[in-house]
Amino acid sequence: MRILFIGDVVGSVGRKALKYCLPILKDKYKPTVIIVNGENAAGGKGITPAIVKEMLAQGVHGITLGNHTWDNKEVFDIIDDEPRLIRPANFPEGTPGLGYTVIKAGSAEVALINLQGRTFLPPLDCPFRKVDDILDELNKKYKYIFVDMHAEATSEKIAMGWYLDGRVSAVVGTHTHVQTHDEQVLPRGTAYVTDVGMVGSREGVLGMERAAVLKRFLTGLPSRFIADEGKWMLHGVCIDLNPQSGRAQNISLVRMYENDVIFD
Ligand code: FE2
Repeated sequence: MRILFIGDVVGSVGRKALKYCLPILKDKYKPTVIIVNGENAAGGKGITPAIVKEMLAQGVHGITLGNHTWDNKEVFDIIDDEPRLIRPANFPEGTPGLGYTVIKAGSAEVALINLQGRTFLPPLDCPFRKVDDILDELNKKYKYIFVDMHAEATSEKIAMGWYLDGRVSAVVGTHTHVQTHDEQVLPRGTAYVTDVGMVGSREGVLGMERAAVLKRFLTGLPSRFIADEGKWMLHGVCIDLNPQSGRAQNISLVRMYENDVIFD
């Protein structure tokens, strides 16, 4: 079982890069399952039904979200109808959509959980206690369990990795858009990386146009952030899972740049 997880897709440049890279990545890695974080896919903020359909048609099996889940109102037209699209599970009780799901690829079933951190982000239910509740259910039924921990603080993501080591197949961090070089299989068999990285312009600031970001830093005045249109990069991770135990055997970083170079 091989899972390819691709980090936060930002705006039209991110979508263009995903469309270009997916056939190359499928050919190179031959993943069983492909998962994408899509919370910045619509102009840098949120996702739309058209983008969800486009990603699924390109061979993506599951899409996770995060703190920008509700930024594009069109998401409400799909969030309750498309079980392959999930939002953080620790959103308040009664929130539309699913916080975890089971995605199917051929005969394989992977339980996919989306969580959001609470440090330097809006207050939510506790992601640690929430995932305990979810795993009470999922551990009985599923061998492969994959967690996207969408969080700002590296400490909260690392803590979640240790908390879930041996209880899930993988914990990958998203949200900060900068790929970290701490990919590892933890002692009890959970693949872990603090941040997968992003897909979008590498000439902006975390995928957004740098002029507006600089203006806010330099003046403190509000400025509207828009997705940058520069040359793209694509970041992800490739994770191999043992088909008997469901535990991780290997995790490697995936990086592609607009000049077509793949770094392993
Ligand atoms: Fe985010």
